[in-house]
Amino acid sequence: MLFNLNMIQARYAKIPARVDAAKKLLGRPLTLAEKILYSHLIDGTENKIYERGTSFAEFHPDRVAMQDATAQMALLQFTTAGKSKVALPSSVHCDHLITARNGKDEDLPKALDENKEVYGFLSSVAAKYGIDFWKPGAGIIHQVVLENYAFPGGMMIGTDSHTVNAGGLGMLAIGVGGADAVDAMVGLPWELKYPKLIGIHLKGKLHGFASPKDVILKVARLLTVKGGTNAIIEYFGEGARALSATGKASIANMGAEVGATCSTFGYDASMERYLRATGREAVANEANKIQEYLRADPEVEENPEKFFDKVIEIDLSTLKPYYNGPFSPDRGFPVSEMQGSLQEFGSTDKVSAALIGSCTNSSYEDLSQVASMIQQALDKGLSPKAPLIINPGSEQVRYTAERDGFIDLFKRFGATIMTNACGPCIGMWDRIGADKKEKNSIVHSFNRNFAKRADGNPNTHAFVASPLMAVVAALSGSLLFDPEKDFLINDKGEQVKLEPPTKEELPSKGFEVKDAGFVPPAPDGSGIQISVNPDSKRLQLLKPFAAWDGKNISGAPLLIKAKGKCTTDHISMAGPWLKFRGHLENISNNMLIGAVNAFNGQTNQVKGNDGRFYEVPALARRYRDENCGSIVIGDENYGEGSSREHAAMEPRFLGVKAVIVKSFARIHETNLKKQGMLALTFADPADYEKVREGDYFDIEGLTAFAPGCQFTLVIHHADGSSESAKLNQTYNAQQWEWFKAGSALNKIRMGG
Ligand code: F3S
Repeated sequence: MLFNLNMIQARYAKIPARVDAAKKLLGRPLTLAEKILYSHLIDGTENKIYERGTSFAEFHPDRVAMQDATAQMALLQFTTAGKSKVALPSSVHCDHLITARNGKDEDLPKALDENKEVYGFLSSVAAKYGIDFWKPGAGIIHQVVLENYAFPGGMMIGTDSHTVNAGGLGMLAIGVGGADAVDAMVGLPWELKYPKLIGIHLKGKLHGFASPKDVILKVARLLTVKGGTNAIIEYFGEGARALSATGKASIANMGAEVGATCSTFGYDASMERYLRATGREAVANEANKIQEYLRADPEVEENPEKFFDKVIEIDLSTLKPYYNGPFSPDRGFPVSEMQGSLQEFGSTDKVSAALIGSCTNSSYEDLSQVASMIQQALDKGLSPKAPLIINPGSEQVRYTAERDGFIDLFKRFGATIMTNACGPCIGMWDRIGADKKEKNSIVHSFNRNFAKRADGNPNTHAFVASPLMAVVAALSGSLLFDPEKDFLINDKGEQVKLEPPTKEELPSKGFEVKDAGFVPPAPDGSGIQISVNPDSKRLQLLKPFAAWDGKNISGAPLLIKAKGKCTTDHISMAGPWLKFRGHLENISNNMLIGAVNAFNGQTNQVKGNDGRFYEVPALARRYRDENCGSIVIGDENYGEGSSREHAAMEPRFLGVKAVIVKSFARIHETNLKKQGMLALTFADPADYEKVREGDYFDIEGLTAFAPGCQFTLVIHHADGSSESAKLNQTYNAQQWEWFKAGSALNKIRMGG
């Protein structure tokens, strides 16, 4: 039994009393999100009314999940905290570092060899400190978590932004930086700004070629990449209950793409079925006992406007399949409107590859629907017009799919079956010809489609779609093909119409797996030695960052003024750089190399104070070594995307003093604070325009900090003139202590 039944029982024992008390305190019925939040507040803080979007609250989550790329830095930090064991159930999943090249049989052994040192480090730390370890090939973290650990009404944090996937099973599951995970693993409360609440009322039922994925693709179009910031999205209504648990997980997963803290669904029959099918009858039985506490109160669904900050209604019966892209997951268009969509970026409608997988859409249900579509295509004499690549979500899914004939069918159709891992979704796709940088369009069932994310080619235009529409795209070879009205020509030259395929929510013969890839921790890990080779290129022990010198900042030069989208992929690129995620010095060589310099429109070319142009990391290093530090200026929603704390540690390591932007994405702002950085916003976003090439900055007011106070930015221009701008900050007293100590981890070491 991998799930921790004792922990779940203890949590369920606490929920009813906590929820009843919260209802009394607030004097009204509660949404599900509020029930879970109040049940997880640390003892003694549950008798308080929290202001949504403003107050900070402290929680004790039930679990921590980490993937291998972020776990390296999280565990390097944890090992310096002086603990003998993690304080709560935790797991590590090896899914990010496996390059997709020729298929699982060749790729997995190669990855085991290439990443031996990292896997050895992670497995020995896991064994020593009581952490569950999932081997390379076991599956994608969020699918494995959904199958084994997620439970209704629980709260989980994870070092990956798509941790939110577990909302499909009624959790509040939240993506955090590694430093937050370290807090939880050492037993400290985990802090979160009390979120706002967005209610999404799903009416009707999906039909035709529409899938659960299309629900979130439409939500992304409606909310945009910022629309969910600092909010929990709660889905409710008949339409929500009609979705399977894995369908709900696909929707919850891409809540990350609208910036939501997380998304969740009330406990229902689909969740119970999923728990029982995945060997968790005991959890389903426990959940049934307190089920009214694991969903919103009935009044919420009857009158949602009274309980949510914003309510959106979607009628599933009229929902059509979407293609969202390129370059942003919120750029969504129904298939019937693709002609117009393709024009903006000059995208070609010709599909050069279709990819199915990622934590978003790699369940048994997804593969069963793909199999049904492929069987229909073969029966009708159709063959693919674009290569099809499939990454199953877990070994349990893959093994069961193979037993049920899907894998064989996929291969007969010419598909390549990659390892049960992230692969192309995280840029680990060794795509033949990508280096030629030719313009092309791909369709994938993943969640993100930023430039270069899948194959490193900036001219690959990636469109996000359901797995079903990815197969349809492979069959038609065109983004303009609408399966609801268009025809295909088969091998005999006949016109053929596709019918909506069937799907199996759960395998009728049950799930099966021989070796799921799970390694339990050692019963007594005290004798296990963790060693890191000082000459290693992949791993490096951390040295504490220096504490604040107690002075305001003066004379710090501009490093870069970034323009437009600056996601964590732009700040700390993935793909080939993933191999340095455990080595701060080496990975810092990618800092901000994808950000666009506002003064010349180029990436990785910034002017230094000597008039020469430098690569961004090189200039930052120079300024750091000259003891003047530097300042980064950014645009809207800076740091959108993943939870990777490298995007915050790298500037810290390279001496950046402050990141000043129009607005931040939530996780990145917290990550900067955790690393002892100044994360500040222009009180008037128009002041961004005041910053010129060659500027120097002073930041005044640090020495007189109080929560909510403003700082003053003095901008010294190269022509000798200067002007100022007011800066907002969101540090609370504890976060300011992190800044003063040099980082949150320094504060923990100091016993704070
Ligand atoms: Fe992996 Fe892509 Fe999900 S990188 S965890 S499959 S978003």
